[in-house]
Amino acid sequence: MDGGFDIERARKETRGCEQRIHFNNAGASLMPAPVADSLHAYLREEEESGGYETMDRRAEDLGTFYVAAARLLNCTADEIAFADSATRAWNAAFYAFELKPGDQVLAGSAEYGSNLVAMLHRAKRTGAEIVWVPNDTLGRIDVAALERLITPRVRMICLTHSPSGDGLINPAADVGMRARAAGIPYLLDACQSIGQLPLDVETLGCDILCGTGRKYLRGPRGTGLLYVRQRLLDQLEPNQLNHHAAELSSTSSYRLRQDAKRFECWERNYAGQVALGVAIDYALGWGLARIEARVKTLAVELRRQLAETGGIRVGDQGDEKSGIVTFFSDRNPSAELHRKLRGHNINTSTVPFSANPVIAAQRQLPEMVRASLHYYNTFEEVDRFVDNLQKLL
Ligand SMILES: Cc1ncc(COP(=O)(O)O)c(C=O)c1O
Repeated sequence: MDGGFDIERARKETRGCEQRIHFNNAGASLMPAPVADSLHAYLREEEESGGYETMDRRAEDLGTFYVAAARLLNCTADEIAFADSATRAWNAAFYAFELKPGDQVLAGSAEYGSNLVAMLHRAKRTGAEIVWVPNDTLGRIDVAALERLITPRVRMICLTHSPSGDGLINPAADVGMRARAAGIPYLLDACQSIGQLPLDVETLGCDILCGTGRKYLRGPRGTGLLYVRQRLLDQLEPNQLNHHAAELSSTSSYRLRQDAKRFECWERNYAGQVALGVAIDYALGWGLARIEARVKTLAVELRRQLAETGGIRVGDQGDEKSGIVTFFSDRNPSAELHRKLRGHNINTSTVPFSANPVIAAQRQLPEMVRASLHYYNTFEEVDRFVDNLQKLL
């Protein structure tokens, strides 16, 4: 036990953590054994008895994903779609909104680079305008400024809850209150917060939420999810359709599905869908509030030790901070530190411009190292990490 947290069990069920310090959970977490085992077992069944036959036999397990995701987010299973990444989920929803010249999309500066590309793409094609909501002095979206920017021209509000390359957590629920009051659809990118923080779409007030499987949810790569509020679902026709999203009633007509699966494709990563369901149930078993508390405590300790290390500057903004810890050295390029740490079996990543380009352009900081912690990491690993880092400076 570590502060009431069963760290022995968490590590025993994380086979990869014995050989390395894995501080790249915001990239892709180490899968826990039950998740990896379920993925392997499904693939073995496909190998032995065929993909379609396995799909039929495992229909209940495939359905478990929707039920688990609905429990995680406090919505109904019909409001959940499986996606193969957060990007696919976000794009599927974003491109479904009709935009015309003069329309505005309000966005926070934490937006992920891929979302920004899609926004620029649509602005170019439709004549709509992307309006960046200013930050407050702590780097969070300024909710009062957002409120002032709301006019009849605003078609949607986009926010990244927790950016890819910054420990910042945006006040997503405050934004949700303003969006609801104004009746404007609210799209929340929860890619880094899902699995790390408790997320309740009613409290958050978001109409759409996207997440990925492989990061804090500890699912496999190539998995993600999309939540769409039923009320909005009725109004959103996906930009691309297929014969799973819509039913052909004749050769000249189709009927859209009523649920969020209208954003899915029939052919998808079935093994991944089952394993993501297991990962979500596994996270729920630990409890999201307990996960959040442990992740935040570990990150606070890492930031404290980094701040006391000469020549290191911590980059994270906000008051409430996530398990993502960013820093840079006065002397050593971040790419070099990242590479050398990897040589010592310590996994981190760097923060490219494309992670959160608007923040990067605003802050003009050098490239940073990102050390992202999860609950199965330990305080002893934090000490060893800082020790190794100091030797590289
Ligand atoms: C905030 C944020 N949004 C979206 C994404 C995209 O996720 P995916 O790679 O699953 O499409 C990432 C990935 O790093 C991210 O950090």
